[in-house]
Amino acid sequence: MAQNFDLILRNGTVCLPHGEAQVSIGVTDGRIAAIGGLTTATATQDIDCTNLHILPGVIDSHVHFREPGLTHKEDIATGTLAAIAGGVTTIFEMPNTEPLTITAETHRDKMARADGRAFCDYGFYIGGCDGNAHDLAELERLPGCSGVKVFMGSSTGALLAAEDDVILRILQSGTRRLCLHAEDEARLIERKHIAADSADVKTHPEWRDAECALRAVKRAVALGRKSGRRLHFLHTTSADEMAYLQAHKDIASVETTPQHLTLFAPDCYERLGTRAQMNPPIRSREHRDALWAAIHDGTVDTLGSDHAPHTLDEKSKTYPSSPSGMPGVQTMLPVMLDHVNAGRLSLMRLVDLLAHGPQRVYGICGKGRIAAGYDADFAIVDLKAQRKITDRWIKSKCGWTPYDGMQVTGWCTGTILRGQVVMWEDEITVKTGAAGRPVRFTETLIESTITETGHVTAPVHTCCT
Ligand code: DOR
Ligand code: ZN
Repeated sequence: MAQNFDLILRNGTVCLPHGEAQVSIGVTDGRIAAIGGLTTATATQDIDCTNLHILPGVIDSHVHFREPGLTHKEDIATGTLAAIAGGVTTIFEMPNTEPLTITAETHRDKMARADGRAFCDYGFYIGGCDGNAHDLAELERLPGCSGVKVFMGSSTGALLAAEDDVILRILQSGTRRLCLHAEDEARLIERKHIAADSADVKTHPEWRDAECALRAVKRAVALGRKSGRRLHFLHTTSADEMAYLQAHKDIASVETTPQHLTLFAPDCYERLGTRAQMNPPIRSREHRDALWAAIHDGTVDTLGSDHAPHTLDEKSKTYPSSPSGMPGVQTMLPVMLDHVNAGRLSLMRLVDLLAHGPQRVYGICGKGRIAAGYDADFAIVDLKAQRKITDRWIKSKCGWTPYDGMQVTGWCTGTILRGQVVMWEDEITVKTGAAGRPVRFTETLIESTITETGHVTAPVHTCCT
């Protein structure tokens, strides 16, 4: 008897774990049920993917959506809408929100707000700080928690763990890989006058220089070794960090961003002004070249967009009062596909950075690979499509992108979330964000159970109620 599926993707070139192959994918109940010829199989929905490549749905493990406070900038609905418009099927949201996500209550509030409103699957970080260091072993195990994030240097919001003793206490509480924004706070304070005196955004990478990042990375690695914890260095930006981290890959994994691989100083500040301002900063061409070398030699594990959607009104303040950060969740895939077309990396390496890497680093259950039994999350791309990225295309509430006017080759044709087509040819094909579900993690499985509707339930924690 012929096999029957809910959905079949036919005739595409599929990025399987071992390489590209011309196969069909059969989906049942939101999961990948079969991979192969499937010539006699039937399905409720049959999608012809001739001339298209099928990638695992992109996992963006670094976004700032701001909810619950500051929702004029973004919220879980608009942020995840922007995500699916750009082939992203999973996001992890950062804890420097208002209020800070540093307690069980604030985490649960975010989970409740996402329920029924998120257009893609999600996880939330807990922020690590002096005040909650002793609770982190419990907090990092909350259902839907993607891990603990520490800001070693001040950035947007009040979250900070600047001193070694605080960072060590954070590291000694819990076991999951700790995510770090590594800039040395003492050096930031010491050099702030460079930014303040100049009032010129071009000095941003001088104020927050490569030495500032390297010092923090070295301190964190030493503390990681002392405590026996694994570390994930977010948005690494410099040649110096890459050279150092290569020698510490046993405990350190590494993220960089599409904007640090694409933009460079001083050009970006001359063209974009404070729109190019982010932390850690966009640096010189030499640093950008070193990031590409680290993509090629495998030092980099993941790409994150660091989507930080400040409004243009806020960005128009005089530097350094202007906020740091730029949107990126929707542009990450097309910008990187353009790099693939320019021959800067292979499509399979991109899949490694956007899906296999995050799956491995965060221990994500059943996502990030096109393999039988995995969630049927896909980004279906047309590698040959030539398009222009414009502010008008941006779904994020902020309504702008640093890539406005950029001509790219390679575009996301469709986004599929657990078997459901949520975007096709730039049209959002679902009415509301009811489809998004919390992600589960291999290290905290015992806490989370998925109900029949896909919701995560958890036993009550005495410490966290
Ligand atoms: O540029 C940045 N913006 N870097 C950060 O670390 C935080 C982010 C934000 O939240 O706006
Ligand atoms: Zn960030």
